[in-house]
Amino acid sequence: MKAIVCDKYGSPDVLELKEINKPLPTENQVLVRVYAASLNYGNLVLLKGKPFVARFAFGLTKPKYSIPGGDIAGIVEAVGKNVKLFKAGDEVFGDLSGCGWGGFAEYVTVPEYALALKPTNISFEEAAATPMAGVTALQGLLCKGKIISGQKVLINGASGGVGTFTVQIAKSFGAEVTGVCSTRNLEILLSIGADHIIDYTKEDFTQDEKCYDLILGVNGSNSISAYKRVLNPFQLINVY
Ligand SMILES: NC(=O)c1ccc[n+]([C@@H]2O[C@H](COP(=O)([O-])OP(=O)(O)OC[C@H]3O[C@@H](n4cnc5c(N)ncnc54)[C@H](OP(=O)(O)O)[C@@H]3O)[C@@H](O)[C@H]2O)c1
Repeated sequence: MKAIVCDKYGSPDVLELKEINKPLPTENQVLVRVYAASLNYGNLVLLKGKPFVARFAFGLTKPKYSIPGGDIAGIVEAVGKNVKLFKAGDEVFGDLSGCGWGGFAEYVTVPEYALALKPTNISFEEAAATPMAGVTALQGLLCKGKIISGQKVLINGASGGVGTFTVQIAKSFGAEVTGVCSTRNLEILLSIGADHIIDYTKEDFTQDEKCYDLILGVNGSNSISAYKRVLNPFQLINVY
């Protein structure tokens, strides 16, 4: 099979398209034929080995996982004998960053806990773009933020990978959503349903009078104390 292989840390130039052996699933693994894979900041960290602290997880001198690729969608080709949740032919998607990466290849073996059935009404590309950013948004809003209907929610960094999921999930919980981004992305926030939009190049929301019930800082752009100024007590979540 063909795979993108990364044997040393560096720029995208270190990536090589190689012919390698197709993997075989162990008894607890699912073999997936990859139809789509997506990229986010985690892939860049894995490629560059920076920040250095990441190397304690990814390999000190060279990448421990030679095939990158975390978020994928594809079709199950075969399953190990202990696999209960999936069978050949199932359309699946998942985040492989916690179980060896390997998504930038024609086939990858995955433990079943890292996969879910792909909804039939979305494409492989849409499914592959969802896992890591979507789950991060959900964790921030629901697990940490305990979002409830009617809350005024501010999302700083609303137009990015995590932020666009956060806006849409917050709306689905019935929140009144204010998104913060730069001028070039205002249209995106309107199109995904933000109720209010703040252009951070023109306005500093931390100096406004308006307060919020829940603030999700998707980036490191503001200090905790600045957020606290515009926060109704006691909800503040930082994702980064
Ligand atoms: N993507 C993932 O799957 C994922 C998963 C876990 C954790 N994370 C972490 O979450 C953070 C964001 O990741 P991301 O993928 O969402 O990044 P991203 O796609 O680059 O989005 C960054 C967002 O921050 C906004 N922004 C930039 N400068 C700003 C400023 N000064 N004030 C307010 N907003 C500003 C950008 O708006 P403009 O583009 O309009 O300037 C954009 O909306 C990173 O720390 C990442 O490591 C990401």
